[in-house]
Amino acid sequence: MHDRTCSRSHIVACMKEAARIGGASLAGNFARLAALPILEKGPSDFVSAADIESERLIIAHLGDTLPDIAVLGEESGASPGASDGRRIVIDPLDGTNNFLHGIPQFSVSLALMEGDEVTAGVTYHPLSHDMFWAAKGEGAFLGDQRLTGSKRSSLAHAVVGTCFPYHGKGDTEKAAREMAAIMPQVSGIRSPGSAALEIAYVAEGRFDGFWTSGAKLDLWDLAAGVIIAREAGCIATEIDGEGDPLHCRSLVVAPRQFHSLFIDIFRTASASNAACQARSR
Ligand code: IPD
Ligand code: CA
Repeated sequence: MHDRTCSRSHIVACMKEAARIGGASLAGNFARLAALPILEKGPSDFVSAADIESERLIIAHLGDTLPDIAVLGEESGASPGASDGRRIVIDPLDGTNNFLHGIPQFSVSLALMEGDEVTAGVTYHPLSHDMFWAAKGEGAFLGDQRLTGSKRSSLAHAVVGTCFPYHGKGDTEKAAREMAAIMPQVSGIRSPGSAALEIAYVAEGRFDGFWTSGAKLDLWDLAAGVIIAREAGCIATEIDGEGDPLHCRSLVVAPRQFHSLFIDIFRTASASNAACQARSR
């Protein structure tokens, strides 16, 4: 049974506090990295005691404060009832690879799903205490500062984020084609390594866009970022310009003045690749 009386703003407040609690534990573990037990879940897919402890603390806080809302955690999976109604999707440590290398770019990310729709999101950087958040119809914020995306007008001045495929994950050739198409059009491409955080940077305007399709993301990597960016007035779709990025096949997120330009760049690159392949047959 889901608690329909629990307001979205109360849920967001609980999500923020859960992110702070998980983040505090990550910050503590980051300071004693050498002692941390690490497991390899798959090729280059690591989980450490830090991810597990962060998720355990987040779920415990959500269980205490929002006992009627189901959760889906990256590490522990779905709680009973997570297949319908409201659920909170949890990435307890986005940027695990950075974290394990001592690179201070990682985050905790929580998204509220109502059915198939993301209606609130929180992404927290535990070292800077940056708290990005949004709720449907209420806007997007960094702390209490409202976010409205980049106001740059020239694509040539745009800095764009992405995530790269890596050993064991993603379509390297596709990512390289997309990269080759967009590189000459913009002033820089960045892949800092915490997709959840970097999608929020689009809402902030630090990045003028973010895309991925060669390296696919999971729901917990992108759901919070999608609502944060949309509430900042940005557009988030699949790489065809239309599909729902929550299907986790691809993502292009950008302010209105750039979104269709990025889509055109990727569409042209994909069409010319298809033409090349047809000629070589
Ligand atoms: C990873 C980060 C990274 C992206 C990877 C994700 P994780 O999440 O979001 O930026 O490039 O594809 O798996 O594994 O650190 O939670
Ligand atoms: Ca992640």
